[in-house]
Amino acid sequence: MSNNTIFLKDYRACDYQINSADLIFELDPDNTIIKSHLEIEAKSKTVNNPPLWLDGEDLELLEIRFDGEILDESTYTLNQEGLLLHNPPKLFRLDIVTRIHPATNTALSGLFISNGVFCTQCEPHGFRRMTYFIDRPDNLSRFSTTIIANPTKYPVMLSNGNCVDTGTTEAGQHWVKWEDPFLKPSYLFALVAGKLDLLEDKFITQSGREVTLQLYVDVGELDKTTHAMESLKKSMRWDEEVYGREYDLDIFMTVAVRDFNMGAMENKGLNIFNSKYILANPKIATDVDYENILGVVGHEYFHNWSGNRVTCRDWFQLSLKEGLTVFRDQNFTADHTSAAIKRIDDVNVLRTHQFAEDAGPLAHPVQPRSYIEIDNFYTVTIYNKGAELIRMQHTLLGPEKFRIAMDLYFQRHDGQAVCIEDFVQAMEDASGIDLTQFKRWYHQSGTPFVKIKDFYDDQKKQYKLLLNQTTPATPGQPEKRAFHIPLAVGLLDQNGNEILSTQILQITQNDQEFIFDNINTKPIPSLFRGFSAPVKYEFSYLPEDLALLMVNDTDSFSRWQAAQELALLQINSLIVAYKTDASLQLDSNYITSLRQIILGDFNDQALQALLLTLPNEQYIFQLQQPADPFAIHVAREFLRKTIAKELKTDLDSLYHDNVITGAYCNNANDNAKRRVKNICLSYISLVDAGEQAWHQYQAANNMTDIMAALTALASLQVNYRLQALQDFYQKWQANALVMDKWLMVQATSTLPNTLETVKQLMQNKVFQPKNPNSIRALIGAFVNGNLAQFHAIDGSGYNFLANEVIMIDKFNAQVAATLVRPLLHWQKFDVVRQQLIQQQLERILATKGLSKNTFEMVSKALID
Ligand code: TRP
Ligand code: ZN
Repeated sequence: MSNNTIFLKDYRACDYQINSADLIFELDPDNTIIKSHLEIEAKSKTVNNPPLWLDGEDLELLEIRFDGEILDESTYTLNQEGLLLHNPPKLFRLDIVTRIHPATNTALSGLFISNGVFCTQCEPHGFRRMTYFIDRPDNLSRFSTTIIANPTKYPVMLSNGNCVDTGTTEAGQHWVKWEDPFLKPSYLFALVAGKLDLLEDKFITQSGREVTLQLYVDVGELDKTTHAMESLKKSMRWDEEVYGREYDLDIFMTVAVRDFNMGAMENKGLNIFNSKYILANPKIATDVDYENILGVVGHEYFHNWSGNRVTCRDWFQLSLKEGLTVFRDQNFTADHTSAAIKRIDDVNVLRTHQFAEDAGPLAHPVQPRSYIEIDNFYTVTIYNKGAELIRMQHTLLGPEKFRIAMDLYFQRHDGQAVCIEDFVQAMEDASGIDLTQFKRWYHQSGTPFVKIKDFYDDQKKQYKLLLNQTTPATPGQPEKRAFHIPLAVGLLDQNGNEILSTQILQITQNDQEFIFDNINTKPIPSLFRGFSAPVKYEFSYLPEDLALLMVNDTDSFSRWQAAQELALLQINSLIVAYKTDASLQLDSNYITSLRQIILGDFNDQALQALLLTLPNEQYIFQLQQPADPFAIHVAREFLRKTIAKELKTDLDSLYHDNVITGAYCNNANDNAKRRVKNICLSYISLVDAGEQAWHQYQAANNMTDIMAALTALASLQVNYRLQALQDFYQKWQANALVMDKWLMVQATSTLPNTLETVKQLMQNKVFQPKNPNSIRALIGAFVNGNLAQFHAIDGSGYNFLANEVIMIDKFNAQVAATLVRPLLHWQKFDVVRQQLIQQQLERILATKGLSKNTFEMVSKALID
């Protein structure tokens, strides 16, 4: 590994701490001056005045004073990464003046400008791009921030905590001073200044305190803020009701900006969001957007306790805050929408993306042992698998003990920077349950594979489940030890009646069996209900048993799982037929069971939509070795088209049963109806030349229905296609968020020559070449969501992506290193594609001045 690698085992506590940081920002796009006054103290255990390292990156150091005196140059060393004070005393003051250039900060880390508004992103290493600091999460300091700027250009000036003073300078600038009463690590620092519109509201906490809620958006966007504000109030109430956690400042501010590397950031009292996760109204946002906003607003709010009040000792503990907070936001969304559907959606994300990561060259444990660039570890493993580990602990402890353990965790570690082990310790101490073996989940990467067989003894009326677990080798981890896996299982009889309700079995051995007595006939097992553990598993169901589970199981996840497996049986045999030039044919029983779903009665109609949705290409792709993206595409499209032909009449009537007349309403019931209707539309469009989709496009009063129609039309060679795309463009070209949808829908079109379309769209004025949302919507969507064309056998997709990665890496390494991911799984393919991809990876690696971010990703893929 590179000598830039940072290891968990090398962690050392800091010798010094910054007790207080008083910062003054003189804002100017080209020339921002930051004056920092730090009170620094050696920790009690520190002896012999060891040197003090202060992180700093891309800074111009104008002045540094030590207890008021200009520091002699022999007493410190300066380099590209920071500043070393050779032997400071026990207690001293540093006054540092730096200059930075926000206007040219395209990396969107540190202080940058979005639509004329100054804003910061400090996690994980952005703070050091403003001033020299102990920029690590175990340094907790008291911050004050004074902002000085032009009052006309920057009327709103925000930072963490409470506004304590304001004024004007002789030069006609205005200033404001903020103080945050809570100790915090530098990654939670935030500053915003600019012209912004404000939506204000208030919230009364459970103890009766009034909290002012402020939501700031770009000028003119106020008509898109109510949903985010409602989501925030729901979050605050939910954390009180479910976790007993109350908000702790008198003001909570949220700001939405267009340019942002990730979803949002939980800065203390001043959350900053990608506007994609704030702005919504029925005209511009889909049901999925509404749900994502609810989830992300919740996520950032919940960090106030899981992340801010109790933070991480070092970045190896990232999942301590992220896994836990994802678990919390998942349950929050579940409580406000449909719990069953939310679970299936989350499992789908996990299996499609995290399982792929865990099976590839970038597999890493939820608590990694090393990294080169921490930016690269904001992964689905840290976030989503991390959340599954919390979920399993919740399952093992049960809801009551889990809550007691959470209370203990927050109480024990409030105000501290702690480790994943401290969390698990609280779970153990509060419950008396031994999680020693369970902790392997945090250290071993790779997805366990559970092979399940059963045996029924008619004489003894006994049913047995036989389990075997193995975990494949992953980079740096050739051998794995057995995991502690909670298996939620139920039993159905041959008529589909439940004869055993959900039991949690504890798998702890490599081989294990479980016996069920008094079972009168051979049952059908319903396995991993609710997806009780993040594992792959195999059980040889007969197709008719899957059909029975799909229709009758009491567990929604298991019904969906059965539908997925039934579809996979079809797709797999179609792939084989395609590759052997045999004719493509479907099993007629499959159509019959799908018809049962279309005609069935559902309490939760969204489940009906999910049962009619085929496994996505990325998921199928993952199950194959070597994977043939083209065969997968052909097989799946053939299946879709056959379903459409065979079930046209049934799909038509299901479609019409679910048309909503009247105003758009974002509630679980209406969302479910739209979901069913739009899955029907996706089939119908394959056989009606786009008539229904065009009709829906014109009649729709909401973005969900418009996008469903546009998505269908985008893959059809019909005149409506261009009509709809042009109409949409005319209406929405001024709205960047809506234009991202327009770009995405074209990038994922199954029509030939989509790569050419993508390249042309990059010239369109609505594509913002430096904006991460724009890049993800067009380039990201093509390389991740258009497998058949991205993996074209002439290598054109690979060449295109490598060019873009090299270009983007020069201005935003974090985005480039995310975009390069689809090239890293080269071992999934045939020899021809392997070579084509490797050539592009080598080319990227040979680029002069390549970032650490992209270097780490590409070099890890090539070593493997
Ligand atoms: N902590 C943020 C979250 O809630 C993640 C995040 C936001 C982030 N912006 C970032 C991480 C920039 C790295 C870089 O998930
Ligand atoms: Zn988070």
